Amino acid sequence: MVGELADEAFVGKTVVLAGWVARRRDLGGLVFIDLRDRSGIVQVVFNPETSPCAHRVAEKLGSEDVVCISGVVVERPPGAVNPSIPTGKVDVAAEFLEVLSKSKTPPFYITEDVDVDELLRLKYRYLDLRRPDMQKNMILRHRLTIAVRNFLDSRGFIEVETPMFIRSTPEGARDYVVPSRVNPGRFFALPQSPQLFKQLLMVSGFDRYFQIARCFRDEDLRADRQPEFTQIDIEMSFINRDDVLNLTEDMMTHCIEETLGISVAKPFLRMSYADAMERYGSDKPDIRFGMEIRDISDVVKNCGFRVFQGAIEAGGKVACIVAPGCSQLSRQEIKELEGIVKNFGAGGLMSIALSCGEDGNVTFSSQLTKFLTETELQEIAEVTAAKDGDLILIVAGPGNVVLESLGRLRLHLGAKLDLISENQLAFLWVTDFPLFEFSQEEDRIVAVHHAFTSPLEEDIHLMETDPLSVRANMYDLVLNGVELGSGSIRIHKRDVQEKIFGVLGFSEEEAQEKFGFLLEAFEYGAPPHGGIALGFDRMVMLLAGRKTIRDVIAFPKTQKAVCPMTGAPGAISEEQLTELYIQVVDMGKIGTSGDTELP
Ligand code: AMO
Repeated sequence: MVGELADEAFVGKTVVLAGWVARRRDLGGLVFIDLRDRSGIVQVVFNPETSPCAHRVAEKLGSEDVVCISGVVVERPPGAVNPSIPTGKVDVAAEFLEVLSKSKTPPFYITEDVDVDELLRLKYRYLDLRRPDMQKNMILRHRLTIAVRNFLDSRGFIEVETPMFIRSTPEGARDYVVPSRVNPGRFFALPQSPQLFKQLLMVSGFDRYFQIARCFRDEDLRADRQPEFTQIDIEMSFINRDDVLNLTEDMMTHCIEETLGISVAKPFLRMSYADAMERYGSDKPDIRFGMEIRDISDVVKNCGFRVFQGAIEAGGKVACIVAPGCSQLSRQEIKELEGIVKNFGAGGLMSIALSCGEDGNVTFSSQLTKFLTETELQEIAEVTAAKDGDLILIVAGPGNVVLESLGRLRLHLGAKLDLISENQLAFLWVTDFPLFEFSQEEDRIVAVHHAFTSPLEEDIHLMETDPLSVRANMYDLVLNGVELGSGSIRIHKRDVQEKIFGVLGFSEEEAQEKFGFLLEAFEYGAPPHGGIALGFDRMVMLLAGRKTIRDVIAFPKTQKAVCPMTGAPGAISEEQLTELYIQVVDMGKIGTSGDTELP
């Protein structure tokens, strides 16, 4: 491998190397090529006097030709050392050259930072993956896989593969389905996760299971969502919540230390869902910066301003964040910020700019000075710890809208004001989520996590009377504002599971039809159990410092879930359709898999 030549012990030795021509230069009669393989780049020199045959062939080499050379490793003269590559102190003086394969001119340069349309990169993914930064990402992914396996093995976990062709498991997204030729009219679903199988493995007595599992979900795609993705899936018996959290912390810190050499402090911070929402307006707060939300309802509840009082009287709230050093923002800039909160349902955005008057006292400029007394303004400044030069941004309305819109505004400003340190790894556990929520879309109660999560013991009595206030024995792992993983302590008793199915609106027959096998399994000695699944692609993305999981997946899909390289999904022949007893009803809807969008 060319990268090995960074070791000075090779100087004077004859080596045989194979790789790709990254670049060719002709200088003063000599031909220089940068020879690249996945371990790096080394400069090879062809001298017409010492090796005329090889030199003649080298003169015709083009970018991305595949060659094999042999030659002697020589030290470069001091002035010619290239400190930017590890092999920059040596050259290989070529003696022989064989061209193994010629390349057409590639559609983009195979270099570190390539500014090319991502669709083109995906169409020629095999070339894109040749680029050193993509190779680094894939190698990091490999090393993390090995670190995870070794760690879990050392803790007594057993890797078990669960099936890819399953009955549909309700996990919130749509299923990808596969027709069964031998069972006409019947379909398998591809697993959204191995959830039920890992629970059944606990019933089987494999008290510590893991799997690096491929999962499939037909949902709206984003930078951190792919239709097929990988989870580190874990389940354990005879444990409590803290056992899962501690194991996960040990695994994460071990893997990061092992692959990046960075040590991360334990235990990770823990925060309840209620606190995360109140303080950050998000169930996955990015805690790399402050700018926390402050509730000022108490301060303004009697101010006489209709918008504020109306919101509070209707059971809502008035809250704000402080944008540091933003008191001079123009009206237009504040309007743009207002656009963000309006996108998340807020009616509007009020602001108070703080500046220091000549007398040294803070003065407030705001459209609210008509409605709020000086004392109230001062109290707001006190509650929020705002100071000279800051801008207080206020939203009033229903509690969830106020918190979510301010949470989004906070993230926007955090990035815009450069408050987020890119080199930090800020882990956070969010716990005690609600067990259920009301879905407007489906007009019914749905599980926040999934139907197999157990309620907190102390909330079980509310299950029938007030299900929406029951909290779940559930936890999410958040890293730098990204949901990295999710897990829970499970239900392991048939009657409790049936009760949950009931709240979720399943009739007894439906529950039996869909989950009879699980309910029955619980009657044969089910141990108490729980676990977690971590999004492996997201983990690699964050540790590689990338903004999308597409950069850490060898062959990802676009936003429309297509592969620009192979054209998948494609049409199938009439014969195949007939054999599967499938008829496509709306031929007008059939398009090509061409795609121009990326999330
Ligand atoms: P959940 O649905 O929260 O839980 O998924 C666990 C983690 O998987 C990752 N993830 C995704 N990554 C990329 N693309 C996607 N489309 C995608 N969807 C999810 C996220 C997420 O946190 N069975 C439960 C786990 C359990 O209870 O043990 C489950 O799958 O990082």
